[in-house]
Amino acid sequence: MSHDRRNFLKAGVTLGASFLATPAFSINPTPSNATANGITKGGKTNVKHRTLGSGKHSLEVSALGLGCMGMSYHRSFIPDKKSMIAMLRKAVDMGVTLFDTAEVYGPYTNEALVGEALAPLRKKILLCSKFGFNIQNGQMAGLNSRPDHIREVVEQSLKRLRTDHIDLLYQHRVDPNVPIEDVAGTVKDLIKEGKVRRFGLSEAGAENIRKAHAVQPVTALQSEYSLMWRKPEEDVLKVCEELGIGFVPYSPLCRGYLSGFIHERTKFIAANDNRATLPRYTPEAIKANWVMIDVLTEFGNQRGLTATQVALAWLLAQKPWVVPIPGTTKPAHLQENLWSADIAFTTEELKQITEAVTNIKVVGDRYTGEQLKQTRN
Ligand SMILES: NC(=O)c1ccc[n+]([C@@H]2O[C@H](COP(=O)([O-])OP(=O)(O)OC[C@H]3O[C@@H](n4cnc5c(N)ncnc54)[C@H](OP(=O)(O)O)[C@@H]3O)[C@@H](O)[C@H]2O)c1
Repeated sequence: MSHDRRNFLKAGVTLGASFLATPAFSINPTPSNATANGITKGGKTNVKHRTLGSGKHSLEVSALGLGCMGMSYHRSFIPDKKSMIAMLRKAVDMGVTLFDTAEVYGPYTNEALVGEALAPLRKKILLCSKFGFNIQNGQMAGLNSRPDHIREVVEQSLKRLRTDHIDLLYQHRVDPNVPIEDVAGTVKDLIKEGKVRRFGLSEAGAENIRKAHAVQPVTALQSEYSLMWRKPEEDVLKVCEELGIGFVPYSPLCRGYLSGFIHERTKFIAANDNRATLPRYTPEAIKANWVMIDVLTEFGNQRGLTATQVALAWLLAQKPWVVPIPGTTKPAHLQENLWSADIAFTTEELKQITEAVTNIKVVGDRYTGEQLKQTRN
């Protein structure tokens, strides 16, 4: 029996008849009219809202944000700029308020794209960006969260984003050479100066989250979290719950894998796609992990949902303060993704799918080498 088949049968034991039983989940038809944080009420909003963070450090956002990185960086082809500008504006029309970019995406070009597209709609949206790398000759050259560097990066990001403030500024990776308290203190000063509204961390470990939060309350932790990478459940999600910090899963579709559109013949353009170097995207790993797609597809087919929607709805069901930021370059995919916010699984369904995926052993590391060392610090 092949490895794929064995894995699928193992998962199928848990799935079995219950997946084929009459689906009980519901799709909520009621659009949300909620608005806060000074965002102008759009009127066309059809996406529910969620809150990241607590009290005066909170941010009310669309239940899913839009990850903008792939529009110009690390997702192989770079689509035509005009189409991406139209797509970003369309996203606002569709109710997305949270837009995610970073200095290092491109580098620089992604912030510039987002800035150009969204400047006319600035009052309706929240811009999130990140600092934390040295960039030399257009390449990432190690970490740098020194206070003077953070300030320089923010000044440049504001220009590229065509705005006078960044709504949520993340440290992209913890810098072992700079105490996290100094980083939090610098962002605190930038908040006082009105250049930044809220503070976030990315891939930080529990201890650094606590230390940073004591200096400047953290609104959101943005770290990888999906059905293929559930490590945050072991520690940082609990810390976020305790401290009232929101959680923003990045790569919530495992860089496209959970859509079922990536297969063993998919070619990643190495010059602009980190998946070409990641063990989880070798043809062997893609094939070995296919059982996950089988599970999502089977569950979705019974309910008129795509694998992507099941994967996103599962994340949204984990906690009401989880706000995934799937990336896409296609308005049709964006619509499909946003509809996942209207899916409410029953407790039993959530248990069934969670058990089924927990039985699958995911093949291939998510990061290696330097990239791995920079995570969960
Ligand atoms: N903080 C960090 O360190 C960090 C790291 C990585 C990413 N991020 C952020 O997280 C965002 C998302 O992450 P990501 O791009 O790595 O991974 P992702 O959101 O898991 O996957 C994006 C990929 O999925 C495909 N996709 C999206 N919706 C789809 C659908 N409905 N059907 C089929 N395919 C679909 C997209 O292709 P199409 O364009 O064809 O739809 C794209 O190639 C980024 O844009 C970035 O803002 C942050």
